[in-house]
Amino acid sequence: MTTLTGNAKLAGVIGHPVTHSLSPRLHGYWLYEHAIDGAYVPLSVHPDDLREVLPALMKMGFAGVNLTLPHKELALAMVDTLDSDAKAAGAVNTIIFKDGVIHGRNTDVYGCMQNLKQGAVTLASYKEHALVIGAGGAARAVCVGLKQEGFKKISVTNRTPDRLEKLKSHLPYISTIPWEARHGLASVSLLINTTSLGMKGQDALDLSLEKLPQQSLVYDIVYNPLETPLLAEARRRGNQTVDGLGMLLWQAKPGFEQWFGVEPTVSAQLRAHVMKGLA
Ligand code: ATR
Repeated sequence: MTTLTGNAKLAGVIGHPVTHSLSPRLHGYWLYEHAIDGAYVPLSVHPDDLREVLPALMKMGFAGVNLTLPHKELALAMVDTLDSDAKAAGAVNTIIFKDGVIHGRNTDVYGCMQNLKQGAVTLASYKEHALVIGAGGAARAVCVGLKQEGFKKISVTNRTPDRLEKLKSHLPYISTIPWEARHGLASVSLLINTTSLGMKGQDALDLSLEKLPQQSLVYDIVYNPLETPLLAEARRRGNQTVDGLGMLLWQAKPGFEQWFGVEPTVSAQLRAHVMKGLA
């Protein structure tokens, strides 16, 4: 750990709970790598206190914070400015304090797409039809990113129809697919799981890949385990796969750059270091 001076730059992650966050480990790696006089700390904050805590952190000299569950949507109404991705995704995951102003950004959209581009060198060949499983906050960020990347058709399916309709009202360009029809994957070129299914301790996603073309790409935003049952099955039948850890790494980059003034690299060494923190 680098020794801090009185000039140290400060940032952190606000969650409730925050104990499982890998962000301190991730940012700590970059701080050490670049010998930066700075710290990135976990901050456990109850959702009822977020409105008070943000201006207080700014007054204490923090450069900014990341937000994780359950704060990302709450923070929309607590910041002074929103970037276009935060508006479109309906969530803030990165905050920058500057000159007394609280800036809200969403870097999950960028993180998700960067991960996809790095994982699938020829993303252009998968842009015909993306099917997104799930309609929560993560799905919304993914759909916004897919639209920006020029995917021709973006379909979404979700267990709870009301939530699917709500997503459609925010993002009218998506097509909705009834949950019962989710196995019909014959026209799907990119399949993305945005639900928590497949995560350690959870059931696997109930989805038959039988009809999915072998040349399609399968992406799971779950990263613990790195190879979810969905990705294992996809790999077994010959589909290219992308795991979710890269999204966590890439979404962190813009915030670090803003707070600490250094452009960090998402390297294999960083990935290995963060992987060691997976419980
Ligand atoms: P996040 O912000 O990470 O996306 P979320 O908003 O809680 O988290 O969304 C979780 C998603 O996982 C939802 O699409 C949810 O489906 P419902 O809207 O039907 O709840 C989906 N999900 C969670 N558990 C599920 C299960 N057992 N079967 C199917 N979908 C599930």
